[in-house]
Amino acid sequence: MQKFYITTPIYYVNDKPHIGHAYTTVAADVLARWHRIRGDSVFFLTGTDEHGEKISEAARKNSTTPKEFVDGVVKKYIETWETLQISNDDFIRTSQDRHEKAVAEFIKRMDKSGDIYKGEYEGWYCTPDETFVTETQLKDGKCPFCGREVRRIKEESYFFRLSGYRDKLLELYRSNPSFLSPDFRSEEILNRLNSGLKDLSITRTAVSWGIPFPLDTKHTIYVWVEALINYISALGIGTEKFSEFWPADIHLVGKEINWFHSVIWPAMLISAGFDIPDMVFAHGWWTIDGTKMSKSLGNTVDPVEMSRKYSSDAFRYFLLREMPLGQDGDFSERAMKARINSELASEMGNLLYRTISIAEKYDGKISGQPELDKSLNIQEIDRKVCSLDTFGALEEIWRFVKEANRYVNQKEPWHLEGEALGEVLCNLLEACRVISILIYPFMPSTSMKMAEQLSCTEKPELKNCSFRREAPRPKKGGLLFKKYE
Ligand code: MSP
Repeated sequence: MQKFYITTPIYYVNDKPHIGHAYTTVAADVLARWHRIRGDSVFFLTGTDEHGEKISEAARKNSTTPKEFVDGVVKKYIETWETLQISNDDFIRTSQDRHEKAVAEFIKRMDKSGDIYKGEYEGWYCTPDETFVTETQLKDGKCPFCGREVRRIKEESYFFRLSGYRDKLLELYRSNPSFLSPDFRSEEILNRLNSGLKDLSITRTAVSWGIPFPLDTKHTIYVWVEALINYISALGIGTEKFSEFWPADIHLVGKEINWFHSVIWPAMLISAGFDIPDMVFAHGWWTIDGTKMSKSLGNTVDPVEMSRKYSSDAFRYFLLREMPLGQDGDFSERAMKARINSELASEMGNLLYRTISIAEKYDGKISGQPELDKSLNIQEIDRKVCSLDTFGALEEIWRFVKEANRYVNQKEPWHLEGEALGEVLCNLLEACRVISILIYPFMPSTSMKMAEQLSCTEKPELKNCSFRREAPRPKKGGLLFKKYE
């Protein structure tokens, strides 16, 4: 049995989740579920990033305390993940004691390596991004990453000797080329690394909503340094879970936080003497109807509303089917309806419906030689999902769905009877059963509904994907998906 540890970023709780947060979490959920049906031992972590200036400002605007404020928003995250059928094994909150303890231990280890010193930070700070910005990085006096206002700060600070890690990081990327994934994003990281690595300010004196710096409690730890450690604090340093799952296999993140995960985080880990994760995968961004999503434009997409309107399975499917993980893509309800109508209702839903309708009119034995499985390549689908090409895997699954529909048209079972009909039906029911397993990680509820109609009581496992010579009698159920205007 292989272990598989996958994480999402921990999200800021200044507001309820939107489609962007849902995307990363659903994609990680698909990967976690896929590894479970392969028989791997999986640990899937998500959670919330609750400290820092941005959160305390949001609390102030809502005339409440940071703690009360974050508790309220965290509830919305948890409810959203329930609606989206997220199967996380743990939910880490940076306001939890277990996190604070692990952070203190981590910082002490970095200090032991001689990597921390006291100095003064003078420069710019972008609160929405919780990021330090150097003079040369400024773009027209604004944050180069998000274009918003920056503030000048000058304060005593502790620093991490990040500048000493350039060669070690380059060696890491050389020895494990898939650490920086997808590979077309590695150039940006390498260019920035080659243009010089500065020491990183890791504490603030003006931010009280944070974890006290263990070496000097007048300071709190810079929110990003503290947040990254969540991936370790959820396991607990020195625990059995830690020995089983660390290092992480995949940190799935959005492209805008790649630098923190691909540069700062491995340097911190080397400094504290921990192993380095296998891969940081930076995925692309969604725009909405062709424009950037933003609160001020009022075009944020609410994943709970989408799930209520179209079902959580259809929403999950669309997110994974519309753009390859890694690329940018555009969300629109029109595009979602089109995919539901053609791929989910007409192609997959109809395949099950017509198969069961034919079976209803036949009372003989449903058995025969497998032949439809020749157009199915499970290993290829597995290889694609394991290399994070979930888009390619869905394409492959749908090729098979289409092939099965073609098989019906070509065999014309309505003209068949006796053994000949039993054989065609067996192939079709087996195709539907295997499809129900393959789509389980993407659309868990639909997979279960299919399995029920197919009288299949086994839990979904990849090892059950080979065609059998006999199929149980199915039970007619409702349509899997309805069509939209
Ligand atoms: N708290 C930090 C992460 C700390 S991880 C140690 C943070 N939080 S966030 O709430 O801003 O979430 C950012 C993440 O949300 C992105 O990295 C991405 O996973 C997801 N997305 C936010 N907007 C997105 C889109 N428009 N499109 C796709 N995903 C995006 O950064």
